[in-house]
Amino acid sequence: MYSEIVPHTISAAEVREKNPVGVILSGGPSSVYEPGAPSIDAGIFELGVPTFGICYGFQVMAQALGGEVAHSGLREYGSTPITLSGESVLVDGQPVGQTVWMSHGDQVSRAPEGFDVIASTPSTAVAAFANPERGLYGVQWHPEVKHSEYGQRVLESFLHRAAGIADDWNADNVIADQVQRIRAQVGTGRVICGLSGGVDSAVAAALVHKAVGDQLVAVFVDHGLLRQDERRQVEVDYVAATGIRLVTVDARERFLTALAGVSDPETKRKIIGREFIRTFEAAQAELIAEAADDGDPIRFLVQGTLYPDVVESGGGSGTANIKSHHNVGGLPEDLTFELVEPLRTLFKDEVREIGSELGLPDEIVQRQPFPGPGLGIRIVGEVTEERLELLRHADAIVREELTAAGLDREIWQCPVVLLADVRSVGVQGDGRSYGHPIVLRPVSSEDAMTADWTRLPYDLLARISNRITNEVADVNRVVLDVTSKPPGTIEWE
Ligand code: XMP
Repeated sequence: MYSEIVPHTISAAEVREKNPVGVILSGGPSSVYEPGAPSIDAGIFELGVPTFGICYGFQVMAQALGGEVAHSGLREYGSTPITLSGESVLVDGQPVGQTVWMSHGDQVSRAPEGFDVIASTPSTAVAAFANPERGLYGVQWHPEVKHSEYGQRVLESFLHRAAGIADDWNADNVIADQVQRIRAQVGTGRVICGLSGGVDSAVAAALVHKAVGDQLVAVFVDHGLLRQDERRQVEVDYVAATGIRLVTVDARERFLTALAGVSDPETKRKIIGREFIRTFEAAQAELIAEAADDGDPIRFLVQGTLYPDVVESGGGSGTANIKSHHNVGGLPEDLTFELVEPLRTLFKDEVREIGSELGLPDEIVQRQPFPGPGLGIRIVGEVTEERLELLRHADAIVREELTAAGLDREIWQCPVVLLADVRSVGVQGDGRSYGHPIVLRPVSSEDAMTADWTRLPYDLLARISNRITNEVADVNRVVLDVTSKPPGTIEWE
C-alpha cells in the first residue's frame, strides 16, 4: 500500500488535505507526560479516518480521547505473552494466547469511553483497545516487528478490514503511474541521468527511458571511489541490458582533490554530493555543445533517490538527520537542475520488483546496494588514492569469497571498511607490523531502515581474514562488526 511518513506536528487540516484512507500512529521513546513529549492534533481523531495507534501512538490516542496513561513502575520489554479478551476485526481468528514484542514503561490504565479492551497481559490490563464505530484502534505491543507472532496479521487486518484498503500498490500500477508523471514533468525536454552502477539509479533510468525514450542520456561518473571492476560493469553490462545511451565522465581527480584533507563524515558526504552535481553540470554543457543546437538546455536530472534516503536525511520535519545521503541532504543549494525522482516514495524491495517488471536482468536488479559516495564513506579518515587502492583490494577479496560461498542473495550487503586512522601492532613474517584494521560489516535487511548483522560461517570468516592479512599490504587485522541497526547504521560514516 502506498504510504507516507509525516511528522507528529501535522495538523488535522493538513491530514484532511492529504485525504488518507488510514492513519497509523507510530511508537516512540518518550513518555506522554514528559515536558515537550510529541503530541498530536486531537482533531485527527475526528476526521472519520480509521486510525491505529502503536505503543506510544496507542498511549497518545488514549490520552487525547479521555483515557488515562500512568507510570506504573512496571516495565515490559521483549517477548511477552498476551491474552485476547474481546472481539475485534483487528484480532479475529487469532489464537487467544500469543506472544508479542513489548517495549514500554508507561501504560494505558483506563481506556477512553466507548472503547473495548481487547487484549491484556499479566501486568498490563489494557494492552489493546478498539472503537469500531469510530474506526479507532490501538495496541501496546509492536506488531511491526517480526517477534510479534501475529503482528503482520494485525497490521493487515487494520488496513484491509478496518480501513478497507486494497492491495493495489504493485509494480504494474507504480510503473504506469510514474511513466505518466515523468511525461507530464519532462514534456519534450532533454534529461540526463546519473548512473552509479547500483540498483536504484539503474531502475530510475530504465523507468525514465520507458517514459521518454531517447530524450534521456545516462551519465556515469567515475569518481575514483568505485570498487574493482565496477566501471566496466556499468559501461558494458548496463548498456547491453538497456540500450540507453551512456556517457562516462572521468572525474577521479576532481573528487579526490575536493576530498583532500577531509575526514569528517558529514563534510565528506556534502562534498561528494556537490561534486556529483558539478560533474553533471559539466557533462550537461558538453552534451549541449555536442548536439550543436540551440534547443533544450537539458534541465532535468534523474536521481534514484529512495524513501529511506529522504527519511534519514531528515526529509520530513520532525525526523532526525541521521546522515546526509549524497543525493538528498548532500545537494548544493544552487542546483540548476530540476530533479526527476521516480523512486522517491519507494523502498528497495519495491524498486527491485519494478526493475524486474521493466525487464532488467537479475545481475542488475539483485545487485547488492552500494552507496553513491562509494568507498569515500568506507575509509574512516581522509580519503587518499593509496588508501582507496588498499580498500579496493580488501573489498574484492571479500566479494569474491562471499560469492564463492553462495551467500550473495542471503546478505543484504557487506561493507568493507578501512580504519585509516587506527593502527595496531601485529607480527607478520618474522617481524613486527603496525598496520590498519579492516572491518567486515555483513548485514541482513529488508529495506535498510533496520538491519541485523549476518552470522557468516566461521570458516568463511577465517578464509577472508587470512587472505586479507596475507594479500593486502599494510593491513594486519580483520574485525567483524556485530552491531544491528539500530543502534549502528549500515555504513560506518
Ligand atoms: P545506512 O548507513 O544509512 O545505509 O544504514 C542504509 C543504506 O543506504 C546506503 N547508503 C547510501 N546510498 N547514498 C547512497 O546512494 C548515500 O549517501 C548513502 N548512505 C548510505 C547504504 O549502503 C545502505 O544500503
